Amino acid sequence: MAVPVTALSLTELRERTSEKWREYPDEVLPLFVAETDFPLAPAVTRALERAVRGGDTGYVASRTPLAAAYAAFAERRYGWAPDPEGMRSTADVSMGVVEILRRVIQPGERVIVNPPVYPPFFDLVEEAGGVVERVPLRDTGVGWELDLEGIEASLAAGARAVLLCNPHNPTGTVHSAQSLRDLAALAVRYGVAVVSDEIHAPLVQPGVEFTPFLASGDDAAQAGFAVVSASKAFNLAGLKCALMVAASPEPKRLLRALPIEVEWRTGQFGLLAAVAAFAPESDAWLDGLLLTLDANRRLLADLLAEHLPEARYRMPDAGYLAWIDLSDLGWGENPSRRILREAKVALHFGPAFGEEGAGHVRLNFGTSPEIIREAVARIASLRAADHEHRG
Ligand SMILES: Cc1ncc(COP(=O)(O)O)c(C=O)c1O
Repeated sequence: MAVPVTALSLTELRERTSEKWREYPDEVLPLFVAETDFPLAPAVTRALERAVRGGDTGYVASRTPLAAAYAAFAERRYGWAPDPEGMRSTADVSMGVVEILRRVIQPGERVIVNPPVYPPFFDLVEEAGGVVERVPLRDTGVGWELDLEGIEASLAAGARAVLLCNPHNPTGTVHSAQSLRDLAALAVRYGVAVVSDEIHAPLVQPGVEFTPFLASGDDAAQAGFAVVSASKAFNLAGLKCALMVAASPEPKRLLRALPIEVEWRTGQFGLLAAVAAFAPESDAWLDGLLLTLDANRRLLADLLAEHLPEARYRMPDAGYLAWIDLSDLGWGENPSRRILREAKVALHFGPAFGEEGAGHVRLNFGTSPEIIREAVARIASLRAADHEHRG
């Protein structure tokens, strides 16, 4: 039976030394970068404690249980059993994306991204020598979806790869199996690669069907790569471990041909922690985390409806990031500036996600209900002050 995972207290969190807790002074509530405020899963703690006690801090081994652990996790959680022989580890998802993109495009070729999207995607494409081609997500009125016609037009005009975010950051959209199949068919037709960043996949809410891109059909397996990690769900980003995954002969060959140094950048602690995170013994903890995140996304909806009725927010189907449109409050292109300065709440800047992010903020609700309540109260006090000023 899953038990909801409880966040640490603010006092405990302020003892942390990671980016989320060191970027701003103590008066600021940090709800920006994608770290969570929960304790580690017990199996992860045990694995790390064992390593520290034994001084097991050398290089990662050339043969590790990581690929098999992920394959088993994917089979249990997504009903898909990828071949461990088609996987290689590296330091993080960003590095995996760059290493793959570098090998599927020539310098100067265009890579499609779907804004609003995780801001480093723009940089990763450039780091790989590519040029960003923007094909925004389509707003359906109730959610977001890939603009497959737009993607096809870009491919027809010469774009050579697609950097997909599945589930999508910042909207929390879980792409439908059909849209992934359609995307894969386009990729095969135009002879281009799809790199699917699936870092948020372990955080898809029950009842929402998640399809790993490579599992969506033969076309996807032929054209695609996935880059996965335990780091978002289990808050392991600082430990540096991700997996690049391929599911058909040609992409597998490409991963096998990567220089050994790419794999050697994997963090030993990251690898040990990821193996523990993907193990069956961590499933109940992950289910408990999903219960907590489900309650938090609903709490946020209720609080916004009550205290900031102008805010437009659709609950994400995955993850702990809320994409909120504050345009109707009249706080400008980048409302997070005023919110930080006057309400002392740090949110991610909407415009950083692409021009579609004007007037938006991204709020990290991977924390306690108390902190979410306090953050919304602080932000709503700006609205109250505006009303008073006008009145
Ligand atoms: C979609 C997406 N990809 C990649 C990353 C970064 O992952 P990593 O630290 O493994 O590079 C994040 C972090 O939030 C993310 O949201």
